[in-house]
Amino acid sequence: MSIVIRPAVVSDAVAVARLEAELMGPDAWSESAVRDELTGPLRCAIVADHVSDRGRARLVGCAVLLVVGDTADLQRIVVARSHQRRGIAGRLLGRVLEEVGDEVRRVLLEVRADNADGVGFYLRNGFTEIARRTAYYADGADAIVMQRPLGPGAQYAGG
Ligand SMILES: CC(C)(COP(=O)(O)OP(=O)(O)OC[C@H]1O[C@@H](n2cnc3c(N)ncnc32)[C@H](O)[C@@H]1OP(=O)(O)O)[C@@H](O)C(=O)NCCC(=O)NCCS
Repeated sequence: MSIVIRPAVVSDAVAVARLEAELMGPDAWSESAVRDELTGPLRCAIVADHVSDRGRARLVGCAVLLVVGDTADLQRIVVARSHQRRGIAGRLLGRVLEEVGDEVRRVLLEVRADNADGVGFYLRNGFTEIARRTAYYADGADAIVMQRPLGPGAQYAGG
């Protein structure tokens, strides 16, 4: 068994939409929204495949970045429950950030304040809270806005 990290292709949309439904509840992207995210302008999408010893691949993770000027927005990072806490999201994040140009100086994201896995993962990976948006989500949950500097002078050296 191995985990292979690679750029997403449009035919990954069905599997990514399945992950969305498993993990994102009411915030899950539909299959057509996933297709737009995987192939849209300014997007960089990376996926993780679990490849069995027999060579059969199953998509178990995805990260999507939107790059505008010197800022990248992490739109999504998801890993199947069966494969969490094995470093796969960390690898997806590392790879998607490798794909952006030197002009990108920071990564921003919004995460639900009640998403302990997401907040824990981002704190572990060099993001810090820079703002909070009260009742940002439809169910009244707050959003935490987090940032990680990139490029020369960025303090974070891990991944
Ligand atoms: C957040 C998510 C992507 C992390 O994926 P992952 O592959 O398990 O992450 P990694 O294995 O690379 O890193 C795990 C690290 O994140 C942190 N972490 C993960 N869950 C955590 C929790 N509940 N509490 C605290 N820290 C946590 C820890 O530092 C953990 O390291 P450890 O296992 O050594 O303690 C995954 O939990 C997920 O898909 N959640 C649902 C989707 C989601 O909420 N995505 C983020 C918002 S879009």
